[in-house]
Amino acid sequence: MKNILLILFTLFFALGTSAQTKKTVNSSKKLVAYFSCTGNTKQAAQKIADAIGAELYEIKPAKAYVAADLDYRNKKSRSTFEMQDPSSRPAVSGKIGNIKKYDIIYVGYPIWWNLAPRIINSFIEKNNFKGKK
Ligand SMILES: Cc1cc2nc3c(=O)[nH]c(=O)nc-3n(C[C@H](O)[C@H](O)[C@H](O)COP(=O)(O)O)c2cc1C
Repeated sequence: MKNILLILFTLFFALGTSAQTKKTVNSSKKLVAYFSCTGNTKQAAQKIADAIGAELYEIKPAKAYVAADLDYRNKKSRSTFEMQDPSSRPAVSGKIGNIKKYDIIYVGYPIWWNLAPRIINSFIEKNNFKGKK
């Protein structure tokens, strides 16, 4: 009898804890921040934000990228210059407003030269992510 009570108590406690964890994650305030030049990442970001109930934030460059800037075959294009220079920090327009209200921030970006575009470094350095997941 003692053993049965112990098992029931453990089960009750475990289920309670897992429900509490789920509740905490569900009630977390989430933001999906994304950078996208040709719309693919934007679409994915929108789907993820819808699925998890997050707000959306577009990481906008101070100077928009035109098609010629994105030509990775051109050694002199803007994106090639930026990606060849690890210290390149293309300016971001604006900041996340009231970042304090978010618990979890997802960052979405396209792959450029097997890396995150340098503007993502600018974005990370410009905003204060202390304590954020
Ligand atoms: C400058 C540049 C470099 C890229 N480098 C890579 C790469 O290394 N690997 C890859 O799979 N795709 C690469 N791509 C393709 C992009 O990751 C892909 O087109 C992406 O979907 C673009 O996202 P967006 O529409 O949100 O801008 C590159 C695209 C650009 C413009």
